[in-house]
Amino acid sequence: MKIIEAIDYQDMSKIAADYIIQKVNQSPKIKLGLATGGTPLGIYANIIADHQKNGTSYRDVMTFNLDEYVGLSGENPNSYRYYMDHNLFNQIDINKNNTFVPRGTTDNVLNECALYEDLLTKHNGIDLQILGIGANGHIGFNEPGTPFNTATHVVELTASTRQANARYFNSLEEVPTKALTMGIATIMKSKEILLLISGEQKKDALKRLLTENTIDERFPASVLKNHPYVTIIADKTAIAGLKVHS
Ligand code: GLP
Repeated sequence: MKIIEAIDYQDMSKIAADYIIQKVNQSPKIKLGLATGGTPLGIYANIIADHQKNGTSYRDVMTFNLDEYVGLSGENPNSYRYYMDHNLFNQIDINKNNTFVPRGTTDNVLNECALYEDLLTKHNGIDLQILGIGANGHIGFNEPGTPFNTATHVVELTASTRQANARYFNSLEEVPTKALTMGIATIMKSKEILLLISGEQKKDALKRLLTENTIDERFPASVLKNHPYVTIIADKTAIAGLKVHS
């Protein structure tokens, strides 16, 4: 895993966005894996600004999101489909038909998981996956203990993850208890991974990732050490006190 040290959140977002933009310019049909949460917002803002200023086109880009809450439709402002539409897709020239987010309101969530996995296989998988990390090391919604060989599946969200995400809802009770998520095996099939880590709350997760040698299902992000092409971009607050060799 290569690590790039950014000064702060803004710098991390700019470095990551520039990297993605460069990849899109090199490969206009790139398939991007996208993440939600607070961390990637700055990346998306930079991508929009560059699109407006320099005209980088996303016309032929395909995107696949990591996860979605079970029970929330795309019109619900807390759904990840809504988040993606409003924070990125509506402001660039991407064809919405080429943007995929698991559907949280299907009658048959297990079938939706299988369809999503098939869709990824049909398109030969993701070229570049953007990842955030949970304070407990979760990637996507793969909570500690998730077997590394899982494909897209339904998860029961942990109390700590619901608590962490409650800031976007009116109350903790409103946070869904389940989500659909790409599995760890799905994420590991991406050809390249960009992992973004920013801020005080992620310090311990980054420390575990960089200092513990074990690859353990109790700390999902540790699986990334088995991936051949991972770049971590972390800001100084998250890195604080760690010795990193970029
Ligand atoms: C959420 C998402 C993850 C995200 C993580 C961190 O639960 N499912 O994909 O990476 O938690 O979120 P944030 O960036 O808001 O800290």
